[in-house]
Amino acid sequence: MTAQELAVNGGPKTVKSHRPFQIYRLRRGLTRSIDLLHMLPLTARGITSIQDGSGIVGRFEQGMCQLTGCNHALAMNSGTASLHSAMVALGVGPGTEVIVPAYTWHASATPIVQCGATPVFCDIEAETLTACPDDIEAKINERTRAVCVVHIWGNPARLDRIREICDRRGVALIEDCSHAHGGQYQGRGIGAWGEVGCFSLQGSKVVEGGEAGVATTDDPELFDRMCLLGQNVLVWRGQRANTFPDFGDISLGVKYRPHPAAMYLAKTSLGRLADRNLRAARAWKWIKEELADTPSIRPIAELPAAKRGGYYAFAMEYRGEAMGGPDTETFVSAVEAEGSPLQLDQFRGRLLHQTMFFSEFDRRTIGGGCYDPTRPYEEQLSKDTKLPVSEDLIDRLVKLPLYLYAVPEDYVRSCARAIAKVAAGLVPSGARVPEKARPDTAGLEAHG
Ligand SMILES: Cc1ncc(COP(=O)(O)O)c(C=O)c1O
Repeated sequence: MTAQELAVNGGPKTVKSHRPFQIYRLRRGLTRSIDLLHMLPLTARGITSIQDGSGIVGRFEQGMCQLTGCNHALAMNSGTASLHSAMVALGVGPGTEVIVPAYTWHASATPIVQCGATPVFCDIEAETLTACPDDIEAKINERTRAVCVVHIWGNPARLDRIREICDRRGVALIEDCSHAHGGQYQGRGIGAWGEVGCFSLQGSKVVEGGEAGVATTDDPELFDRMCLLGQNVLVWRGQRANTFPDFGDISLGVKYRPHPAAMYLAKTSLGRLADRNLRAARAWKWIKEELADTPSIRPIAELPAAKRGGYYAFAMEYRGEAMGGPDTETFVSAVEAEGSPLQLDQFRGRLLHQTMFFSEFDRRTIGGGCYDPTRPYEEQLSKDTKLPVSEDLIDRLVKLPLYLYAVPEDYVRSCARAIAKVAAGLVPSGARVPEKARPDTAGLEAHG
């Protein structure tokens, strides 16, 4: 392969047609419209709100209990709401800290400041892109109330070690499972390892209700405490452990109850999860097969004990620049020219500890108690935080989108072949994989 044969230089495109994607979009639109029709019998009876967790809300929650193995699930109107509810229930507030990776969507961390606590950002493991247990352990102190891990791109974090650390140090574990529906670790459901598992069901997720979320837990008192965030009928009826029998219909000033339409969408979507995860696993296998002889691309592996779920995206590390190839942007543009939907990492330039919001912004200037009045404000900002692995990796991370799970094998393989073609054209062959870009993958699933 020479650089001249690349589409970016006028050569033939590897991915010839976008029809599979267009057909996928059309089919998805139709399926979801039909799913929504299930709500008609409810609206025909004049019911557009479910306040007591009955009907479709309860049925969806039961489905989540089955999926995760947890005793309780509480549906809400967003994944962010489920994280906020978990933190409130666990006593996160002024004087406390929560440890969370900086390599994640901001909603893993913003509920911490909303509780008036301090986020402490931890590094990730290069192998899996999930929270590094050693860094978590190093950052636990007497203020730490919880650790929030994120199973990013559907890849489960190293849960056995992290659970052990949390138990030994007496801190709670929250799992942000927003990308990882149906994932497992050591055969146990993602969302059942933490005191609370939090799932986004927003429209781009593999289980989706448009805008919705759900929290799972085995602890009936935590469940009741989460009900305080606007699930007022559930609080009133002293759901399960009767934790708040005297509250009447009062709950806190945010209302996280879900819309029934979102629950109908989420329930039908949950019914398709097993099939979607199987198909995504197959697509991931095809992608890795096509890239097996491309040393400048490292598909992000899962731990031996982990079974990926959700597959929010197919993430990879591009290592070609250190091998004499172009930078990541140039590489991705050349792959795009081949017709393949390779993208730069979504969190590029947005590692949370480096964002203006977490590193500089004076949250004391806004209402809502989004800072900790019990300690100096400077200590609550992340501007001095250094996360060597996240900072080193971020500009090399790329991903193929989730929809590849739903399109034909030829198309998926051609999208991956485009990456291999560009690497062969632009990265000098025979170059060694640089030491820095070669994490210790011993014990991980083999590349390819
Ligand atoms: C890792 C992660 N956590 C939390 C959320 C928040 O979910 P929601 O948008 O449903 O509030 C998202 C949403 O994309 C996410 O990606």
